[in-house]
Amino acid sequence: CVERTFIALKPDAIQRGLVGDIINRFERKGFHLLGLKFVQPSRQLVEKHYEEHLGRPFYEGLVNYMTSGPVLASVWEGKNIISSSRSLLGATDPSKAAPGTIRGDLATQVGRNLVHASDSPANAEREIGLWFQPEEVQSWSRAL
Ligand code: CMP
Repeated sequence: CVERTFIALKPDAIQRGLVGDIINRFERKGFHLLGLKFVQPSRQLVEKHYEEHLGRPFYEGLVNYMTSGPVLASVWEGKNIISSSRSLLGATDPSKAAPGTIRGDLATQVGRNLVHASDSPANAEREIGLWFQPEEVQSWSRAL
């Protein structure tokens, strides 16, 4: 089924100059870009985004990482995009991610894994609502 998801290019993706490469992989796959913007996220925004990880040993480092520079927030649409985009990303830990995936090709550390993708339809809508105003998200692909 056609779904929407939230994809964030994390500060390391911006700083390493990988924005074009990562967006290109989503476009070549055939997903449709509905929204895109730079955000310098507040601590509060990142804490809400990652609220399910509160209390994990890596939580503090994760929040510091995600607030360390601009994040490129995006909304994409496509068939089975929630599971399919996570396949494009590869395993959370880049040292375990398959070659051909974004993390498998471009990263080595779980604490610098370049990109986030929503893990369920409910989280996708929650995350889109946290990062975007409704008028910042287009719906052009439905016309094609
Ligand atoms: P993401 O897909 O955005 O979802 C949760 C994030 O927490 C994950 O990517 C990593 O950036 C981070 N993360 C998960 N596990 C670890 C870990 N063991 N050590 C450091 N960071 C982690």
